Amino acid sequence: MELYNSIFRRKSIRRFKREALSAAQLFLVEEYMGKAQALYPSIQTKMRIAAASEIHTMLAIKSPHYLLFYSESKDGYLLNAGFILQQMDLFFSSQGFGSCWLGVAKSKEPSVDGLDFIIMLAFGTPEGKKYRESLSEFRRKPLSQIAQGEDPRLQAAQLAPSARNSQPWRFVCQDGDILLYRKRAGAVMGLIMDRLNQIDMGISLCHLMLASEKQGMPFTFDSRADLPKRADCVPVGKLKG
Ligand SMILES: Cc1cc2nc3c(=O)[nH]c(=O)nc-3n(C[C@H](O)[C@H](O)[C@H](O)COP(=O)(O)O)c2cc1C
Repeated sequence: MELYNSIFRRKSIRRFKREALSAAQLFLVEEYMGKAQALYPSIQTKMRIAAASEIHTMLAIKSPHYLLFYSESKDGYLLNAGFILQQMDLFFSSQGFGSCWLGVAKSKEPSVDGLDFIIMLAFGTPEGKKYRESLSEFRRKPLSQIAQGEDPRLQAAQLAPSARNSQPWRFVCQDGDILLYRKRAGAVMGLIMDRLNQIDMGISLCHLMLASEKQGMPFTFDSRADLPKRADCVPVGKLKG
């Protein structure tokens, strides 16, 4: 429930206190790393806490800690990465820590135990405001632009963070199911955004999972479902009602 509540007030934190978290705080983080659920449990993944000296900092926000995510590069691995790591992002917020997704920063260790580095979060103690005070502080597309039909879980998905705030998710509510699509990225940022937007879709699925729990609804996601085609969109899967 704490993670669910964080959806409505979290924000990306880009300024951190220089001091490291305490050993007890880092223990809590490590403990939660073991609890985050996978979308696809058959994909092997690993998370590791790193210091600034272990990453290429040129494109990274300065923070005392980074959470590095590694994975097998199997079908659905980017969706899975977004889904798992967003639970960590919400966890950080729920504990009063701050975090920010870093889409282009690189680890100095490109693989660990045969798993590839995928993406990282910066985290630490926020300098300044930790939370949004009201929903009006979220800069998000209106539901009317991203969804057809209604479902009580959609607002949680709408508020998800995404690379460059691109909000690539599109939803079609049909007979209690939610059909998920990803809006294709424009040609300019094509390849980079195509990759990051798949992670974004996993992030919105994480919010849909927490909203399903909150509504007492099952969370059953079928990525093999045969979705009707939509212009400019890639079908992602069906969330069964
Ligand atoms: C996959 C991904 C990559 C991101 N990469 C960066 C980044 O490299 N640098 C940065 O400052 N913010 C980055 N962000 C944060 C987004 O800009 C931010 O989530 C979005 O603008 C919405 O703002 P909010 O998180 O405060 O709600 C990234 C977010 C996601 C989901």
